[in-house]
Amino acid sequence: MKFNQSVRFLTLFIAASTALIVLRCGTVQELGFNPLGEMKDPTDNPTNADKIWLGKEFFFDKRLSLDETVSCAVCHKPGLAFTDGLKVSEGIKGRLGNRNSPTLINIGFSERFMFDGEIPTLEMQAIVPIQEHKEMGMDMKALIERLRAVPEYQEAARRIFNRDMDVWVLTRSLAAYQRSLYSNNSDFDRFYYGKQKNAISASAKRGWILFSEKLYCIACHPAPYFTTHTVANNGLYADYGEDKGRFRIKNDSTDIGKFKIPTLRNIQITDPYMHDGSMESLSEVIDHYAKGGKGHVNQHPVIQSFELTKREKSDLIQFLYSLTDMSFMERL
Ligand code: HEC
Ligand code: HEC
Repeated sequence: MKFNQSVRFLTLFIAASTALIVLRCGTVQELGFNPLGEMKDPTDNPTNADKIWLGKEFFFDKRLSLDETVSCAVCHKPGLAFTDGLKVSEGIKGRLGNRNSPTLINIGFSERFMFDGEIPTLEMQAIVPIQEHKEMGMDMKALIERLRAVPEYQEAARRIFNRDMDVWVLTRSLAAYQRSLYSNNSDFDRFYYGKQKNAISASAKRGWILFSEKLYCIACHPAPYFTTHTVANNGLYADYGEDKGRFRIKNDSTDIGKFKIPTLRNIQITDPYMHDGSMESLSEVIDHYAKGGKGHVNQHPVIQSFELTKREKSDLIQFLYSLTDMSFMERL
């Protein structure tokens, strides 16, 4: 009874917040510009407010991990645009992973997941961290038993999916929640798509010209997503050592050093950078590109050395900062 009421209340709450989100994004959408376009749900998982609500419950629930200490949100913190601020993530029992936690904003627009750019759906992706020894370390069968014993989850599964709490319910809801995480209301969006001339500073405007016309960044980080959602070798290393990126999928040497191109939205708050968190600042990242990369054989040919004055470098950083979307942060 009580739970039903709270579900109804939550549903209302979600409906109200959705209305608010639409209003908030009005600046962009009113003008006929939703730069992101429509996010397509897979046919086997049409989204709705109930699924998003349930997915959010799971996302923040530490019971998804073996010793009930780690939830998805421990490594994908909303306040850090769904990253964790660490070089590499820390899972149960302080186990360190090999990779830096990527942002999940606009993740529903992506068609391949993880830095290797291989896993084809968000529904499938969700299973990986749950079972990964260094992340949540949980056996899926044991997890479903654990979640089925939680009356709220069992009841929600029956009500929303018309079945018992199972892997389908878990992965469909988690994916639906993640597809609700979008960002299209940064100062840059208001400037570029909303035609509000003063939404970004003169310095950021100069930085945008550098980024889009003088340098080669948009070859891989084009608006509106600031990623092509594909993989590339950006010359991070001359020798990639143990983590060779996409190479591990098919052992194809042309894949060595290819990693999924990260979005640059909210880049101001998603440091440290790169798949291994090896760069602490945007200044360091820019220096890397300015030197023309480390020259790995698979390095993308567009990456060539360039020179920037101190002011130009600061302009480029100001432009990158203009991709921060506080309204996205507020509505979480
Ligand atoms: C211990 C930290 C940790 C936990 C817990 C964790 N993640 Fe992650 N997540 C990561 C790291 C690190 C990566 C990058 C892994 C890689 O590329 O191999 C990642 C990648 C992802 C991606 C792919 C992003 C992209 O751009 O392709 C998604 C989606 C994701 N996580 C969702 C989740 C969900 C859902 C949960 C909970 C079920 C979860 N994560 C739990 C650290 C974590
Ligand atoms: C050939 C494609 C390509 C080009 C061109 C390119 N990048 Fe990247 N960028 C990548 C890839 C791939 C990564 C991730 C590499 C990794 O994780 O090891 C990345 C990472 C980054 C990151 C860190 C993102 C994060 O979340 O860790 C920033 C910032 C960045 N690039 C900015 C730029 C700028 C500025 C330019 C232009 C000077 C540029 N990139 C040009 C492919 C490219």
